[in-house]
Amino acid sequence: MKHLLSCDGLSRDTATAVLDTAEALKQTLLGREVRKLPTLRGRTVITMFYENSTRTRVSFEIAGKWMSADVINVSSSGSSVSKGESLRDTALTLAAAGADCVIVRHPASGAAHRLASWLSGTHTSVVNAGDGMHEHPTQALLDAATLRERLGGLDGRRIAIVGDVLHSRVARSNVHLLTTLGAEVVLVAPPTLLPAGVNSWPVTVSHELDAELSAVDAVMMLRVQAERMHGGFFPSAREYSIAYGLSEARLRLLPDHAVVLHPGPMLRGMEIASTVADSPRAAITDQVRNGVHVRMAVLYHLLAGEEEVA
Ligand code: CP
Repeated sequence: MKHLLSCDGLSRDTATAVLDTAEALKQTLLGREVRKLPTLRGRTVITMFYENSTRTRVSFEIAGKWMSADVINVSSSGSSVSKGESLRDTALTLAAAGADCVIVRHPASGAAHRLASWLSGTHTSVVNAGDGMHEHPTQALLDAATLRERLGGLDGRRIAIVGDVLHSRVARSNVHLLTTLGAEVVLVAPPTLLPAGVNSWPVTVSHELDAELSAVDAVMMLRVQAERMHGGFFPSAREYSIAYGLSEARLRLLPDHAVVLHPGPMLRGMEIASTVADSPRAAITDQVRNGVHVRMAVLYHLLAGEEEVA
């Protein structure tokens, strides 16, 4: 694997190898006082975030540091991007400075693929940490890791992805990855928050959350992405919450074993009730925890060659 740009086209074997490595790393580090492996000593990882992030940026930084890589964070405001330097020149500069891996988040869909094409003559790997409304592959991998942990596997499982599918790179990556790993996906959203062409996706579509909940193994609530809705959004926040918010009453409709996920950041009270987000049924902090191990596994598969994981 040279780059990780999307879950579209990621094979079942590769995805499973990354998830297995993440699980092995988690077990290796469990209970250790010093969480430091020598695996990526001498490697340089640069995070380049053109959009805000808490979970993804921090967990990539921790992942790199726990594997002994040198990790450098670049943001648009503190770099020469603020003087007008292009994405291409910034990427070529970072590669020339010695980056073994560039992790990029960018508001434009397709930015990570462009970056990888500009760096094709170099040794530098690219990881997509979220590009516009396109994909967020490491989020889908950490979601799959969490579901595997809670449900024991994904083959034949039914997962509802609920809410603002239209603007969600998390939804797109999850549709590709979950179906590759053998799950059935049902998208539950108002018609105004579904993309054109969704009928050609390998999913079923529903507008009625209450009708779906009793038959799913997991429900993945999405963030409503107001920053991508320049003309406001319909339904209103109140209508959305009534029709699609995961309330305590809706939690009771789920089978006992079913898991609640949210990629964060959450809009509590609108997308999900606080009591649901904080309940033992929710795996939201597990998702964050697994995000570190999954991102360690991704860096390992990109950068460690034949070396042992631990
Ligand atoms: N889920 C996710 O991508 O969160 P951040 O925007 O905080 O990285």
